[in-house]
Amino acid sequence: MAEFKLPANSKVAAGKTHPAPAGASKPRRFQVYRYDPDGGGNPQLDTYEVDLASCGSMVLDALIKIKNETDPTLTFRRSCREGVCGSCAMNIDGTNTLACTRAIDDVAGDVKIYPLPHLPVIKDLVPDLSTFYAQYASIKPYLQSKSPAPPDRERLQSHADRKKLDGLYECILCACCSTACPSYWWNGDRYLGPAVLLQAYRWLIDSRDETTGERLDELEDPFRLYRCHTIMNCAKTCPKGLNPAKAIAETKKMLLQRRL
Ligand code: SF4
Ligand code: SF4
Ligand code: FES
Repeated sequence: MAEFKLPANSKVAAGKTHPAPAGASKPRRFQVYRYDPDGGGNPQLDTYEVDLASCGSMVLDALIKIKNETDPTLTFRRSCREGVCGSCAMNIDGTNTLACTRAIDDVAGDVKIYPLPHLPVIKDLVPDLSTFYAQYASIKPYLQSKSPAPPDRERLQSHADRKKLDGLYECILCACCSTACPSYWWNGDRYLGPAVLLQAYRWLIDSRDETTGERLDELEDPFRLYRCHTIMNCAKTCPKGLNPAKAIAETKKMLLQRRL
């Protein structure tokens, strides 16, 4: 599948250059988006030369090295360093992905790093995900049941029903897909976007959930669900190999079936 690429933002002016330390045996250039809204200046692209001879192999390793050894003002999110928390999502070499799982050697030329696109920037590589999280909360991402739980054990699920959650439960809510979706760029205030819709479908098809009808009612809206035009950027960019577009299509099918 062709890799989804965003065009490099040519309007960001060149900023400071931080040369490699003397004696660096494997220098590599990283161009990093810098912006501090509180500082009043325009965004700029700072260049950091990193000696890869003393750096881990992932883009996040280079960012941590820059922050520790060259520029403590560089701001980015990270936590797990192994692709499970979703915090380090950013745009690297034109693709929304996780900095901790993107190998530096897989990027040709200078490594260009921007925040996830089409979101307000809090600082540098940290986007404001408030709307994204509010949308996630709106789909009630937890089990809702009307019947009482068995007194002596958990609610059971067959192997076949559990299997239906594969390809959905792995989502780490990194927002790479939603911020690669043109429909979400233009209607992000009303369209839920691929990540939240994949999560909504995860609860729609959970055999233990007893609010499927109410969940479908909430989604049956020209904006919340139906802004997906099957452009497929979401599936192309997901760093966990998931397919939100398929989950959205299945949700539309469920809505259609209940009308028949
Ligand atoms: S579907 Fe993939 S890209 Fe989208 S939020 Fe989940 S893990 Fe991230
Ligand atoms: S398939 Fe739908 S959700 Fe995915 S990028 Fe395209 S419009 Fe967005
Ligand atoms: S630091 Fe957790 S996914 Fe990258």
